[in-house]
Amino acid sequence: MLVGRRAVVTGGAAGIGAAVARSFAAHGAHVLVADVDPVGDLEFDGTAGGSVASVRCDVRDEAAYETLVAHRPDILVNNVGHYLRAPHPFAANSPDLWHDLHEVNLGHALRLTHAVLPGMADRGGGSVVNLTTVEAHRAMPGHTVYSAYKSALMQFTRSLSAEVGPAGIRVNAVAPDLIESVQVPYDELVPTEQRALWPNWSPLGGPGQPEDVAGAALFLASDLSRFVTGSTIHVDGGTHASGGWVPRATGGWTNRPLNP
Ligand SMILES: NC(=O)c1ccc[n+]([C@@H]2O[C@H](COP(=O)([O-])OP(=O)(O)OC[C@H]3O[C@@H](n4cnc5c(N)ncnc54)[C@H](O)[C@@H]3O)[C@@H](O)[C@H]2O)c1
Repeated sequence: MLVGRRAVVTGGAAGIGAAVARSFAAHGAHVLVADVDPVGDLEFDGTAGGSVASVRCDVRDEAAYETLVAHRPDILVNNVGHYLRAPHPFAANSPDLWHDLHEVNLGHALRLTHAVLPGMADRGGGSVVNLTTVEAHRAMPGHTVYSAYKSALMQFTRSLSAEVGPAGIRVNAVAPDLIESVQVPYDELVPTEQRALWPNWSPLGGPGQPEDVAGAALFLASDLSRFVTGSTIHVDGGTHASGGWVPRATGGWTNRPLNP
């Protein structure tokens, strides 16, 4: 699906970004991963001729962008993002935290996209995929500013898609929830005795895996989505669609504060 394409994936050493890099390479893309951490051996089926290389860098710092732009990407996946702190009330956080959240969730995506777009346009088009979150679309008490910046990234996706559509560049988002990763290690967060409750945590149960998000990113990067832009694909087991409704262990559904 991506034979001969060139892709930049930020935060591709682990979690969702690593699954995206592996999936793109397995479909024939030449992927450049930009990550603060060293990139280990990302195993993929190489029969489609794809490859994965890496640059160790902090994507908040524009110093790395020359190398990323020189890769001549047709596809950019702005995957780096983080909530940074344990939940606490907005009234108790400081502008320093807001700055840090801006830089890790929005600033780099704006700056790197800005750096990559002219080359994409010159080469006749491309695809930008931004990783947002279900919390760009619903409340996240205790993470108000993270949620606000992710929502801004979603709206950036929408507005930019209109601007650059005539240049053949598509811009879309993927909004995950409940995906097992380094950042959200559900395997550690959910005690063994509560694992039986997983089927009740979303309409499709859970947790999801990074590969589930990579599937949506692959669709958005490929020509299968050639008439899709400004959209968000929700890869969340149905948590966005179902809002506060969860399946009951005993059958049926509840949106009440019952022990599920
Ligand atoms: N996992 C989930 O359930 C979930 C839910 C909602 C949204 N998301 C979003 O999906 C994206 C990926 O999440 P994940 O769970 O795979 O994250 P993760 O923390 O497991 O992996 C992130 C990767 O990015 C790298 N990274 C972090 N900061 C960086 C920086 N400044 N420069 C370069 N590399 C950097 C890390 O080294 C790591 O390899 C994020 O934008 C996150 O907000 C994830």
